[in-house]
Amino acid sequence: MSTVATETGDITIRKCSGIEELEACVALQKEVWNFDDVDLVPLRMFIVSQKIGGQTIGAFHGGELVGFAFSIPGSRAGHAYLHSHMLAVRDSFRNHGLGRKLKLAQREDAIQHGIELLEWTFDPLEIKNAHLNLSRLGAIARRYSINHYGHSSSPLQGGLPTDRLVAEWWLKSRRVVNLLEKKQPPQFHVEKRIEVPAQIYAWKSSPDDRQKAADLQKRNREQFLSAFPNGLVALGYERDAQDNGAFLLGRWDEQWSYASKDED
Ligand SMILES: CC(C)(COP(=O)(O)OP(=O)(O)OC[C@H]1O[C@@H](n2cnc3c(N)ncnc32)[C@H](O)[C@@H]1OP(=O)(O)O)[C@@H](O)C(=O)NCCC(=O)NCCS
Repeated sequence: MSTVATETGDITIRKCSGIEELEACVALQKEVWNFDDVDLVPLRMFIVSQKIGGQTIGAFHGGELVGFAFSIPGSRAGHAYLHSHMLAVRDSFRNHGLGRKLKLAQREDAIQHGIELLEWTFDPLEIKNAHLNLSRLGAIARRYSINHYGHSSSPLQGGLPTDRLVAEWWLKSRRVVNLLEKKQPPQFHVEKRIEVPAQIYAWKSSPDDRQKAADLQKRNREQFLSAFPNGLVALGYERDAQDNGAFLLGRWDEQWSYASKDED
């Protein structure tokens, strides 16, 4: 599908095929999240997803899988969409644009299959992911889920409740097309900022500082939960030179929605 040049050579982005490549995704999942086996998405689920309209797209360095994006089909209010459950890049291959390229390949494939929405959840304390999702891909967030998965065995979670924002990536929206195809970042009036200090990574990984991370999570959770019902949407993300982050909330001037009363 596409190729990304890195210091360690070219990486090819393409759909995974065959059981061995899907097994490599399970192994990379284990490596990246360091989950207990009980939390792993098993091989069988990757196989099922491929058969029912999901996507498993890999990043290959030579023959070796170094990243993947995995999604499963969903339906809301009568509309088919894709839920992207995992995006992973091997540590030593990060920050070369592979995560972004994997998402762009998901978008391209989804559009070819008549899909206009890709969704996924992400931890609002992860500054890097928020930047990638909102600023680089043009996703928006206007739903917040408290302790979405219950307890997670992944050290990346730092033992905190698994709070998640839902990223909605409206593939053909003006916002996304302008950003990705015309390189025009969206313009909007910022009505609220929700801040995440760069120290969050250190706080999450140190038992002594974990309470600071928990306090921040609680404070930001309250801010999101009061902003979203008032029509505010996370439309942007700002990082400063020290890698502190801030969600930028405003009103979205487009109408894309598959909102359903059944959703919780
Ligand atoms: C999230 C992940 C897939 C991204 O992969 P990647 O190949 O490193 O992503 P990219 O290189 O395309 O983009 C990373 C962006 O984050 C930025 N970034 C890197 N570290 C950062 C930090 N500490 N704070 C803020 N931004 C950061 C990079 O500068 C880059 O932005 P840019 O393109 O504007 O320069 C990868 O980090 C990963 O596997 N993480 C663990 C699993 C995970 O969290 N998955 C996603 C949730 S399901």
